[in-house]
Amino acid sequence: MVSSLVTVSGVSYSEGTATDSVKERIAPVGKSCMSGESCAAAPAAPASAGPKSGKDLYGTVCTTCHATGVLNAPKFGNAGDWAPRIAKGLDTLYTHAIGGFNSMPPKGTCASCSDDEIKGAVKYMVDGSK
Ligand code: HEC
Repeated sequence: MVSSLVTVSGVSYSEGTATDSVKERIAPVGKSCMSGESCAAAPAAPASAGPKSGKDLYGTVCTTCHATGVLNAPKFGNAGDWAPRIAKGLDTLYTHAIGGFNSMPPKGTCASCSDDEIKGAVKYMVDGSK
């Protein structure tokens, strides 16, 4: 698309109304899922703008499967689902979350997430599911 903004001797002329272009610029690029809600589709991996908290990561990535138990994922907040997993030890859960475990994809599909961010999300789920 050809830019509608033309600059002539330092003066800007813009086709269309200013309000239209402002609306275009401030419109959100994509919708993100709120913590606690399940998303219809797997969200794109969050852009790495600094480390994400475990809660944020859970809310954007892990919730896709762990909120409702997609593919039999242990559900967030369900102590019965988590007790046998917690019994394996936090280190095992970290390893499985980072490297993958059966239907649990490596890093929960967030390839751009650091190991520490994934650990934080595991900790958040474990702490919230006791
Ligand atoms: C595509 C769906 C999906 C996503 C997204 C996902 N998980 Fe999972 N997760 C699963 C499934 C399914 C299991 C159960 C695997 C099994 O026990 O066979 C699981 C299991 C786990 C376990 C338990 C592993 C064990 O040893 O019992 C942890 C911890 C975990 N996920 C962490 C996470 C974290 C952290 C995220 C987000 C960064 C995440 N998951 C995102 C599907 C998912």
